[in-house]
Amino acid sequence: MDILSVTNLSKNYGFAGNTTKALDDVSFHVKEKEFVAIMGASGSGKTTLLNCISTIDTPTGGNVLVEGVDITKLSRKDVAHFRREKLGFIFQDFNLLDSLNCEENIALALSISREGGDVRGKVNEMAKLLNVEAILNKFPYQISGGEKQRIACARAMVKNPSLILADEPTGALDSRSSRILMETFQTLNQKLGAVIFMVTHDANMASFANRVLFIKDGKLFNEIYRGEGTQRVFYERILEVIGFLGGDLHDA
Ligand SMILES: Nc1ncnc2c1ncn2[C@@H]1O[C@H](COP(=O)(O)OP(=O)(O)OP(=O)(O)O)[C@@H](O)[C@H]1O
Ligand SMILES: [Mg+2]
Repeated sequence: MDILSVTNLSKNYGFAGNTTKALDDVSFHVKEKEFVAIMGASGSGKTTLLNCISTIDTPTGGNVLVEGVDITKLSRKDVAHFRREKLGFIFQDFNLLDSLNCEENIALALSISREGGDVRGKVNEMAKLLNVEAILNKFPYQISGGEKQRIACARAMVKNPSLILADEPTGALDSRSSRILMETFQTLNQKLGAVIFMVTHDANMASFANRVLFIKDGKLFNEIYRGEGTQRVFYERILEVIGFLGGDLHDA
């Protein structure tokens, strides 16, 4: 089944005579258990795409189905429910609450989604998987950027969302922490079947995914699958497409 189905999606900003086509007739499908990376130059429409999928932004045309439900047509109440129950967000700047310790930051996601049951048990299980058990009692200012991002992953994952959306999740991390985070994403994807949709500028990070979509000037330019090849080979293929694109992705 398709977890995410985007059809003829477009988004214009501005008014008549002065519009930016941030997304121009974009269509693609993401199936269960996929880990997809989105690449493209600055201003190509990556964040706009993520925002239209997450209901933060409203598309100008087309539709977005998540598990078969068109989320562009939801009522306000249903939008809130959709975000709470179906989505996990991971941002570049972590977005942890400074006044809560790590355990409370993770547990907050469960109390917001009003999940009952064993909150502590669920938090501990996720903390173990993401290797952050030892820092659960610390506050965000007491831990490193990589640790913060793994706490943010635990927070996104603990309510078992259908779809994880991540916009430049390694943007504020050094290369070692970035690699650890990508290995974490792979674990979440392979062990828990988490469907991940991640924007990145970095070909290295994208090579951890199973598939890479490239966008250029708001249009889908190309897509490649890793298949059975090694990560190294996939990385080389990603660089090749970036070359076609004009090689203007910084960091790549
Ligand atoms: N709220 C807005 N109002 C007007 N124009 C916008 C708005 N948000 C984005 N745009 C424009 O839409 C285009 C796509 O922007 P978007 O933020 O999606 O790019 P991006 O691929 O995420 O870039 P980056 O890699 O720099 O984050 C750009 O031309 C941008 O200037
Ligand atoms: Mg962006």
